[in-house]
Amino acid sequence: MSVTAKLSLNGTDFELPVFEGSEGEKAIDITKLRSTTGYITIDSGYKNTGSTKSAVTFLDGEKGILRYRGYPIEQLAEKSTFLEVAYLLINGELPGKVKYENFAEKVCHHTLVHEDMKQFYEAYPSKAHPMGVLASMVCALSTFYPLSQNPNRPPKAVDMTIIRLLAKLPTLAAWSYKNSLGHPIMYPKNKYNYCENFLHMMFANPTEEYEPDPVAVDAIDKLLILHADHEQNCSASTVRIVGSSQANLYSSISAGVIALWGPLHGGANQAVIEMLEKIRNDGGNLQKWVDKAKDKDDPFRLFGFGHRVYKNFDPRARIIKKSCDDLFEKLGVDDPVLDIARQLEEVALKDDYFIEKKLYPNVDFYSGIIYRALGIPTEMFTVMFALGRLPGWISQWKEMIENGEPIGRPRQIYVGEKVRDYTG
Ligand code: SDX
Repeated sequence: MSVTAKLSLNGTDFELPVFEGSEGEKAIDITKLRSTTGYITIDSGYKNTGSTKSAVTFLDGEKGILRYRGYPIEQLAEKSTFLEVAYLLINGELPGKVKYENFAEKVCHHTLVHEDMKQFYEAYPSKAHPMGVLASMVCALSTFYPLSQNPNRPPKAVDMTIIRLLAKLPTLAAWSYKNSLGHPIMYPKNKYNYCENFLHMMFANPTEEYEPDPVAVDAIDKLLILHADHEQNCSASTVRIVGSSQANLYSSISAGVIALWGPLHGGANQAVIEMLEKIRNDGGNLQKWVDKAKDKDDPFRLFGFGHRVYKNFDPRARIIKKSCDDLFEKLGVDDPVLDIARQLEEVALKDDYFIEKKLYPNVDFYSGIIYRALGIPTEMFTVMFALGRLPGWISQWKEMIENGEPIGRPRQIYVGEKVRDYTG
């Protein structure tokens, strides 16, 4: 017997179907609410509203669970590679050796971008934020591949666009960094794997030999895995809604990059480091800053704390925090900002405000500390997040297109002026 939700409005009872997902999550299906009751729902920030049924990622915010296509994030972070996780998210299954090698080979041979794009970099101010550069460069890719304009093209053409995005994003990202330094760009080398190539393009220069440090390569690969998808977060929802208009995949991903930039979302990893340095420069009085974060009259928030879904520890934060110790020991790095982060976490997690509101460290709280230890500049932290999140955005977009979902167009309740005559 199908479960329904009963709604009583103005003395009339309505029954609405209930949907249950594979992990027991339940939703009231309001697809026909307006046509049957004349009412809509309203839910600012969509805190209680599901936008889709998805098979890509499962989160349980109360239990701190995160799984990509059913695989626990802890196992993938420990045993997989970023490219294998990208394949898993996009195609739904782990590739196996042969498919993985074909996939990695294709990505490796599409890392170059059209030479004409180099002049775009020259047009930016040298201090341009790399997220602004990356978002526009990703959209600009669509102008070099006119056949990519139609997202419903045969699967082969869509697969090529997916490969190009995965292959070229690290190149575009590294080149924006080199451009900001006024240094010559470094071309990708096919002898390197995904993360080695990124570090090569970021830190190599024509005047000296450079070989990516395997410790740094492993740390980057794990961080990219941890950022790869997170169901219907702000930027993934942006990619879906832009893609739902049948805009091409490049422009949908570009919109995702822009949404991620915000300090309440992916931009938090940069904001965390800037916050920790501010606290350090202010004498390290942690309680003062925790009290500021609690003060409703003070706009200051503790960046890297709190989450829309996790009301328990973000499992990714737990993994990254542990990686800090391993990495710092291997690299022989000692960063006072890590000490401040740890002390701040300890003070906040004992504070009733944070306990009552279930505010725990999220993925952004420790990730910037690792990027710093690897020599990645603060302004590139959110670019690192975008590199990691790319396969997630692609998988969400692909699922939306393949399911033939309608264009996203929410309703509203009008609260403005009633009709009035023009007397100008
Ligand atoms: C990411 O959605 C995702 O999955 C995102 C992400 C992903 O992988 O895609 O996980 C990545 O974006 C992580 C979040 C990074 N952002 C930050 O670290 C910025 C700081 N955090 C907050 O701004 C906030 O916690 C959000 C934006 C993350 C979540 O905001 P919500 O869900 O809208 O919750 P809210 O703002 O309504 O907060 C609930 C209460 C409020 O107090 P009241 O109005 O109820 O009294 O908690 C307070 C907030 O003021 N609060 C904080 C706080 N976060 C929430 N107070 C102080 N410091 C904070 N960090």
